[in-house]
Amino acid sequence: MVVHVALTGATGFLGLRLLRRLLTTHASLTVLTHARSGDALHRITRFFKLSGAPDTLIAALPSRLRVVETELERPRLGLSGNDFQKLADGLDAIWHSAGSINLEDDLARLRRINVEGTRHVLELAAAGHRNPAVHHVSTAFVAGARREGVAYEDELDDTYGFENAYERSKYEAEVLVRAWSRAHDRPVLVLRPSILVTDLPPHPDLPSHPLQVIERILQDSLRTAGLAGPGIPGSSRPEIRLVGHPHGHLNLMPVEDAAEVMVRLAGRPPSGGVDTYNVVHGHDVPVPTIVALLERLVYLNLDVVARKPDDASALESLLDFYPGFTAYLSHRRRFDDTRVRTLFGPSTTGFRVDLDYLWSGLGPRPATAG
Ligand SMILES: NC(=O)c1ccc[n+]([C@@H]2O[C@H](COP(=O)([O-])OP(=O)(O)OC[C@H]3O[C@@H](n4cnc5c(N)ncnc54)[C@H](OP(=O)(O)O)[C@@H]3O)[C@@H](O)[C@H]2O)c1
Repeated sequence: MVVHVALTGATGFLGLRLLRRLLTTHASLTVLTHARSGDALHRITRFFKLSGAPDTLIAALPSRLRVVETELERPRLGLSGNDFQKLADGLDAIWHSAGSINLEDDLARLRRINVEGTRHVLELAAAGHRNPAVHHVSTAFVAGARREGVAYEDELDDTYGFENAYERSKYEAEVLVRAWSRAHDRPVLVLRPSILVTDLPPHPDLPSHPLQVIERILQDSLRTAGLAGPGIPGSSRPEIRLVGHPHGHLNLMPVEDAAEVMVRLAGRPPSGGVDTYNVVHGHDVPVPTIVALLERLVYLNLDVVARKPDDASALESLLDFYPGFTAYLSHRRRFDDTRVRTLFGPSTTGFRVDLDYLWSGLGPRPATAG
């Protein structure tokens, strides 16, 4: 039987990997792309080239992918009633990976994309006469501002509050998914990856990953504070004190492995309700490793301190404007992934995410051509 699958967010950092993995088992796919956001097929093709996909696969992309332009925040994803119904009726599964991961955005905008967007994708799933399966990409960070202990796969509550509006919007989207599943008596797969990373070198044509965004924030702050860079003779590295925990750790998951685990999970028979999985690495990365990485990338010295200094410099005050970035340096919680490990064995990723791995995906600067 031919199973027809649609994917939102296929041009994104994760969506591109999901797309590549799904193309190993599906002859054709529908990609629900972001309307008026650039030529999706061209961007997808660039990724396949830059990540070393075989020429035959790249040449076949235009015939294997059906592109439908959509707008998450609009009813019926911005489609006419007729087009929406036709799309829905042609689907057996919907992967929802589109969203905003912008930690600097305000809650209202994040809600429009992440919560209302999810509502519209669920309406597509409800409309389809083949009852398409729903695979919803959430985040392990729905666990919110709980900094210690263990975050389990079945938990979903807002007791601890959230580090930023992004976390809250993703939490609210999951609440919506659970309510929809109950109301429609339909199964949903909820996938909660941790922070996604790659060792594929950065390139202007590729979507950036969260650590690249942090690097940009630090570079911008240095420039705004008018601090000298390494090219200026006699300048010394600026010092920044950031609140964190010396034994803090974060879970960073290679995006290619995350996509592999997610697609394997989607291939399993659903329980009937909401099946939630933490898609995380078996070993966390210590905060000092992340600090060492940032010091390699940006011309500054980072000092992790226990509390906010009373005599904050202009640069330190500037960095306070980025909610949820510095908060993560205090995190010491662990994400439980017993359910994934029970299915697929002790470790889904055979290697540790270390400084060298992270440097490969951030440090070496690419040529812009090619
Ligand atoms: N990156 C991570 O570390 C991470 C970690 C945990 C969970 N997640 C979750 O994984 C999912 C994918 O994240 P990502 O890293 O791939 O993000 P990303 O690189 O920013 O990609 C976001 C995708 O969503 C699309 N999109 C954004 N706004 C849209 C709109 N209004 N209408 C239609 N499409 C829209 C984008 O299209 P354009 O590029 O054309 O705008 C892009 O394809 C998200 O749900 C995120 O919450 C990500």
